[in-house]
Amino acid sequence: MKHFLSIESATVAELHAILALAAEMKTTRGSHAAHPLRHQCWALLFSKSSTRTRVSFEVGIRELGGDVLFLNASEIQLGRGEPIKDTARVLGRMIHGAVIRTFAQSDVEDFARFSGIPTINALTDGEHPCQIMADLQTIQERLGGYAGKVVTFVGDGACNMPISWMWAAAKLDFELRIAAPRAFQPASEIVARAFPIVKATASADRDALAVYETGRGGRLVITEDLEAAATGADVLYTDVWVSMGKEDEAAFRAAQFGRYQINAALVERARAGALVMHCLPAYRGKEISDETLEAHADTIFAQAENRLHAQKAILSLLAC
Ligand code: CP
Ligand code: NVA
Repeated sequence: MKHFLSIESATVAELHAILALAAEMKTTRGSHAAHPLRHQCWALLFSKSSTRTRVSFEVGIRELGGDVLFLNASEIQLGRGEPIKDTARVLGRMIHGAVIRTFAQSDVEDFARFSGIPTINALTDGEHPCQIMADLQTIQERLGGYAGKVVTFVGDGACNMPISWMWAAAKLDFELRIAAPRAFQPASEIVARAFPIVKATASADRDALAVYETGRGGRLVITEDLEAAATGADVLYTDVWVSMGKEDEAAFRAAQFGRYQINAALVERARAGALVMHCLPAYRGKEISDETLEAHADTIFAQAENRLHAQKAILSLLAC
């Protein structure tokens, strides 16, 4: 594995290898036999805020024997307009790997191409692949696997999280349901790339389900009907209504998403023992009720912890 830029570009074998090593990283934390980043210095180059991603990468790189630099994009020349391809060619001659959080997916891809060093996507507007690996690890731990399961995503169906979830469902053969207002459903060209078989298309009917398949076991359902999407689900998952960079749309989004909340009534519709998951940060009373978040805090904070283990697996595979 040369880079980890998206779930879309990762192979199924790479996803399986990351998950297997993530489980091992978790059980051997504090007593790792190998330190594959020894004598290496990695940079975290972030253009957006972060708590979990920043801390888990900084700690993870150190635990693997490496050194780490945090670069706030607004404090280096990138923030004053130096092109990403020039920044990449400079950093590529000085550091051993890069972890990038930014807006455009193309910037992470350009950095990887021009720097020539291992590059990890730590969140773009297009995908959040490291989060999905931690989420899959959590599902594997708690439900024994993800193949054949039903994951229902509630909220902004067009942002980075559901897009990474779509690619995960397509590659790892489970059903993803996206319950979102029509204006916040995933772009049809991405759906067509991930799920080439159209089983049903949405009509003007608000409750209509659009259904897509891969032909191998992956299935995608997109609907405005929140209750139908939650019924019988193994996992209910949500994310913020207002992603980073969309703050100007906060009022419009609040009006659109008002009823797209994971709460006790929605959990009642899911399978008994279903997981409630959130990538965090959470906004209680918006995408999730306080009561439901607290009732499922054990799962939700295990997801956050698994960022460390899953990313150490990714770093180790890139350092080989
Ligand atoms: N889930 C996640 O990526 O959290 P941070 O924005 O705090 O890194
Ligand atoms: N969709 C969110 C994810 C935060 C981890 C955002 O991009 O802000």
